[in-house]
Amino acid sequence: MAYELNQFIDDCRAILQRDPGPQGREQVRTNLERLLTNKEFVAQTCGDDVPTGLKVLYEDKDLGFQVLAHVNDKARKSPPHDHGASWAIYGQAIKHTDMIEWERTGGDDKHAELKEVKRYRLNPGQAGIYQDGAIHSIDYPDRARFIRVTGTNLDKIQRVAFDLQSGEVRRMTPQQAT
Ligand SMILES: [Fe+2]
Repeated sequence: MAYELNQFIDDCRAILQRDPGPQGREQVRTNLERLLTNKEFVAQTCGDDVPTGLKVLYEDKDLGFQVLAHVNDKARKSPPHDHGASWAIYGQAIKHTDMIEWERTGGDDKHAELKEVKRYRLNPGQAGIYQDGAIHSIDYPDRARFIRVTGTNLDKIQRVAFDLQSGEVRRMTPQQAT
């Protein structure tokens, strides 16, 4: 039987209640990869007929985590950014996302020096995890779509993005860069 969204959510709840730290999140990541093998789920949430935009598939009222479908239309390259005090897991559903992970090597509140540490492509069925405070940038083609699980509603916490040219640190507005 296919692994369904409801089962995934139940498993997330059980796992994160037991272990909200990196090990629990890693189990959520592998379960997300399992969910992405469910072709019907992918078609229903990210298929060609699905209206574009960002959809909240689930928000947990107790634990705060969210499951989001990013049904993108146009290609996009984000600046490096963090997810504030939250973690985020990106699971590729359709097409791909090129990921770069960055390390902050210096600077202050307003300016930062960043060093690229890792670069790779997430293909359909693959999920990547970004722990609290981690900095990454994403680059995807037209109609690339992904399912994202975040530790909390990112619209409610402070996050920053970085201008690679000037090093400027910018406060992020809701959903500005995923
Ligand atoms: Fe992100």
